[in-house]
Amino acid sequence: MLKARDFPRFAPDMSQDKPWGGRFQEGTDPTVERFTASIHFDRELARYDVRGSIAHARMLGRSGVIPQADADAIVRGLEQLLGEIEAGTLALDPRLEDVHMNIETRLRERIGAVAGRLHTGRSRNDQVATDLALYLREAAATVRHGLVDLRRVLVTRAREHLDTVLPGYTHLQRAQPVRLAHHWLAFVEMLGRDAERLADLRKRLARCPLGSGAIAGSTLPLDRDATARALGFEGPTRNSMDAVASRDAALEFLAAAAISMVHLSRLAEELVLWSTAEFGFVELSDAYSTGSSLMPQKKNPDVPELVRGKAGRVIGDLVTLLTVVKGLPLTYNRDLQEDKEPLFDAAATLRDSLAVMTGAVATLRVRIDRMRAAAEDPMLLATDLAEALVRAGVPFREAHEAVGKIVAHCLAKEIDLRALGQRELRAFHDAFASDANELLALERALEERSMFGATARVRVAEALDAADRALDAECALLDSEREEP
Ligand code: ARG
Repeated sequence: MLKARDFPRFAPDMSQDKPWGGRFQEGTDPTVERFTASIHFDRELARYDVRGSIAHARMLGRSGVIPQADADAIVRGLEQLLGEIEAGTLALDPRLEDVHMNIETRLRERIGAVAGRLHTGRSRNDQVATDLALYLREAAATVRHGLVDLRRVLVTRAREHLDTVLPGYTHLQRAQPVRLAHHWLAFVEMLGRDAERLADLRKRLARCPLGSGAIAGSTLPLDRDATARALGFEGPTRNSMDAVASRDAALEFLAAAAISMVHLSRLAEELVLWSTAEFGFVELSDAYSTGSSLMPQKKNPDVPELVRGKAGRVIGDLVTLLTVVKGLPLTYNRDLQEDKEPLFDAAATLRDSLAVMTGAVATLRVRIDRMRAAAEDPMLLATDLAEALVRAGVPFREAHEAVGKIVAHCLAKEIDLRALGQRELRAFHDAFASDANELLALERALEERSMFGATARVRVAEALDAADRALDAECALLDSEREEP
């Protein structure tokens, strides 16, 4: 254990402007400087880097690894820097390679040579891993808030449209009538699982890499529990090599983000499709549409189109990082610096996509009559006829065959399924009850689907209430997780 005794006077040789310059005779080639620099993107980590450094410096002072007065001076300097970062006034120098060296240099400019004690018992390897964990915790929370907002809007719009009916589609062919509320609640489910995935990620972000050093820990008596707790982790990472080598939490975030973007792209695609003249189910508000520079009549769904397109980018971000990490020998390799751009890109893209989709759905005009007209197609109730036969004891395959013949008959004769009377239906199968053609009523068809998870009014109303309750619980959880800045 070091004692606060004889710390030598600090007289660093700054003849080399690189913190690692000691063993080098020549300067770095400018192309290499540019090639290896990451400050133009890892500046996004500045606030987490400083927060990590504050916790580290406090611990160094308290455990007597550096003089307490120096630790205090470092913490004060870092707090100033944090203020400047939050205010957006901290100038970062591209010649200083990365965010870590920028912060340390800025600190030295403010508090002098004592800044040179900050990096005691630390490497940029455990430092950047810690920064990333802090970043991911916040990025996941931001996205979860966005997912709550979009689901709230979907539930609100769904509530308005509990009695709006449209065809449900399989193979993009009209299949069976459903409530619009039921349709939109399907997205609420998908986005809910996306939020769960991101909430679950917190478990894999519970341990703090600080103290792992470059690879094997430190000979200095660092208090890893103290830094971990100060930064809101449950404890320190269990293996120093894993801590500096691994990026699976980032991969998990990217996977969750890619899945969520894929979900958004499906919602987006439906808005595009539904706003065509051919469907005419919805009209995007002017605020969420754009015009054509050439064709004056055009109102284009560029917002959902871009969301659809940006899903490709986020999938690419996931593949990028998977490929970077694949086959890397332990532990840290500079390849890992390539983790940041895809991560930041995915986080920002998903956050913004959620925001615009929330606005687009909130302001969407629903053309109830157009949906209803499409849902009125009696062919959508052919399954109901078959199931009526099943209820009369007919094996389903036989029922399917009989109703298939009825459909073919109607198509050939160009008549409406509902035009068939009891006698005609019975000609196809004598198990049809006398009131069989009453089955061919839209509302009745909806209401008969009254099992859990189906589209009957009472079930959908329950599902709306359940969705609201789940969102309330999720907001309470998010609040309880909120970190002090
Ligand atoms: N900019 C680097 C990164 O993002 C920081 C860690 C550098 N470590 C090193 N040994 N060169 O990965």
